[in-house]
Amino acid sequence: MYTKDAQVAWRSPSNIALVKYWGKYGIQLPRNASVSFTLTNAYTNMSIAYQPKSNNEQGVSLYFLFEGQENAKFAQKIQVFLETLVPIFPFLTQLHLNISSSNSFPHSSGIASSASSMSALALCLCSIEQQLLNDFADNEAFLHKASEIARLGSGSAARSVYPYAAVWGYHNDIADSANEYAIPFAMHPYFNTYCNTILIVSRAEKTVSSRAGHALMNDHPYADARYTHANNQLSNLVPILQTGDAQGFINIVENEALTLHGLMMNSNPSFILLHPNTLHIINQIRAFRHDTNIPLCFTLDAGPNVHLLYPAEFATQVQPFIQTNLLAYCQDNYFIEDKVGDGPQKI
Ligand code: PMV
Repeated sequence: MYTKDAQVAWRSPSNIALVKYWGKYGIQLPRNASVSFTLTNAYTNMSIAYQPKSNNEQGVSLYFLFEGQENAKFAQKIQVFLETLVPIFPFLTQLHLNISSSNSFPHSSGIASSASSMSALALCLCSIEQQLLNDFADNEAFLHKASEIARLGSGSAARSVYPYAAVWGYHNDIADSANEYAIPFAMHPYFNTYCNTILIVSRAEKTVSSRAGHALMNDHPYADARYTHANNQLSNLVPILQTGDAQGFINIVENEALTLHGLMMNSNPSFILLHPNTLHIINQIRAFRHDTNIPLCFTLDAGPNVHLLYPAEFATQVQPFIQTNLLAYCQDNYFIEDKVGDGPQKI
């Protein structure tokens, strides 16, 4: 029995997919394998203080603060999620949890926080398990479980527990890959230097939820072709990531971004999440690349904001280009500087 109060805390980053996860089945299992860069500056800090429950109430007991304020909507979501985890973490019914969460990026920045927040929550839960039961064989076993729990909260969050890059979803060419959890992916160190400048075309919240978006793939006429294509894209991207081939990277990564939006546009119902300014930015990036031969490229999430990807050695050329040619297309000239990072930290 747990008699004393204790606390765990993690900082966990967001990630940006290169080959996209779009379409799922069962309990948050992916229809195709995906790979992402783990980011640095877009992160969630989460702490959970826990103590033995003082009453005999059933279920999970928690108090939740988001950015220092009570937030009933988020608290309810976490409550529901934690109830589903009781079979995995039976101790959850014996504790009262004080959860406090905050993001490094503003709430209305157009940046989704599910990957960073769900991975932070999963890491905290595994740390509580470690403190109470001391039952992880090693750090690998700890991260493996954290990835699986993160996936249950938000599929893409499974990838955020690893530094630099992670693969999630079974893939023939990738040893130990699995649908239930992500695994770390060892890249050529050149890709560890990649910058990710996020151009905020719109700060508005997404008009299609991630759940509804994935559901669009269920009756999609191109679904099977997409899943095969995604797995082929990953087969082609693996050697590029392993050899540091910055030119080879561009075609696959840009095609993945536009394929994701193509699938949304030709879904039924159809969604157009690209903004005219997204297209202006893409055209500018392609013209810059043509003129300079600098391997600057873009990817997109399920929204209008543009993630620029480029090696750090070209930052001195790319940054003035962003200032003079791209910022005019951003809402309030807003952008976020991020880069590939070394994964979550215990704080
Ligand atoms: O993890 P979810 O359910 O929010 O889905 C993420 C989907 C994309 O961001 C569009 C792609 C990806 O692989 O991260």
